[in-house]
Amino acid sequence: MEQQLTQIKEDALTAIKAAGDLNELNEQRVKYLGKKGSLTAILRGMGKVSPEDRPRIGQLVNDVRSELEASLENRQSALKADELSTRLATEKIDVTLPGRRHEIGHLHPLTLTLNKLKGIFRNMGYSIAEGPQIETDYFNFEALNLPKDHPARDMQDSFYITEDILMRTQTSPVQARTMQAHEPNSPIRIIAPGRVFRRDDYDATHSPMFTQVEGLCIDKNISFSDLKGTLTTAMRQLFSDDLDLRFRPSFFPFTEPSAEVDITCVMCHGKGCRVCKGTGWLEILGSGMVHPHVLEMSGYDPHKVSGFAFGLGVERIAMLSYGIEDLRLFFDNDARFLKQF
Ligand code: FA5
Ligand code: MG
Repeated sequence: MEQQLTQIKEDALTAIKAAGDLNELNEQRVKYLGKKGSLTAILRGMGKVSPEDRPRIGQLVNDVRSELEASLENRQSALKADELSTRLATEKIDVTLPGRRHEIGHLHPLTLTLNKLKGIFRNMGYSIAEGPQIETDYFNFEALNLPKDHPARDMQDSFYITEDILMRTQTSPVQARTMQAHEPNSPIRIIAPGRVFRRDDYDATHSPMFTQVEGLCIDKNISFSDLKGTLTTAMRQLFSDDLDLRFRPSFFPFTEPSAEVDITCVMCHGKGCRVCKGTGWLEILGSGMVHPHVLEMSGYDPHKVSGFAFGLGVERIAMLSYGIEDLRLFFDNDARFLKQF
């Protein structure tokens, strides 16, 4: 038994020294110390050793095991060190290779346009208001002088959730919401940007989901010339100083008088082209003096204060700012398009 142990020990130590890599070393570990290893086999055979020899042989087996474990440990560190120095000697990092760049994203052209508009109106003393995209029939229509069955409702067919709740068709409900949140007759200067929804076509100039910026200014003695001055200043800042605006009589139930505003075509500068359909003008927004009844319904006294309001289509403005001929490009999210801004 003792002889056998010495033999195992010598064989194992030689094999461990000879192991050329970590795999080979592990094979040796299994061969001698594994479950079916030769040293383990001896341990299992201890039962057959006579009781008086057992302590001595047991001690011997343990000693051999410790020695083999230490030797495996040593060889393993040596092999690991070798491996590291070979790698250090052979592998090279080419620090001149270009790195893997993270592409930096940027704002969507609609967001850029919105930010410009917000900046322009903030500089004129306006603050930003917001309203819900899911709106009540009351705020979207009734408080704007469009009672149920009013024929002008047909111009804005919506996506209804219930009889009385719908996806808002315009940002104008924020007018009534803002007035009702204010002390009656107190001055208001807000713009309200946001998404609106209509049962509408999806073509080069229309989308069933689009963005509007509502404007509302209420104070003592606000007149139509304030409306003209404000919009002219804002649109000139947005496009160019030599831009002309044309106020065309129009109808909205919540403003009186009402005007639709055209600007000189930014593509042809008024000469007439495909984009302005030869007229030299482009429609960009609806506006007017807040209807007395609308003021009244939200607690304001039309004898004490007056106001103007407007609502512009952000996609249309962005199309004109960037010379884009199809509105759908804003929503397709084609990276080749978006990368250009
Ligand atoms: C309105 O929505 C009124 N609420 C505007 C208003 C506000 C008038 C305050 C008076 C006082 P209109 O339906 O014309 O008006 O829409 C306003 C603008 O939204 C249009 O000039 C146009 O630029 C844009 N627009 C309208 N429909 C679409 C659509 N389907 N897709 C993209 N833009 C649209
Ligand atoms: Mg219109």
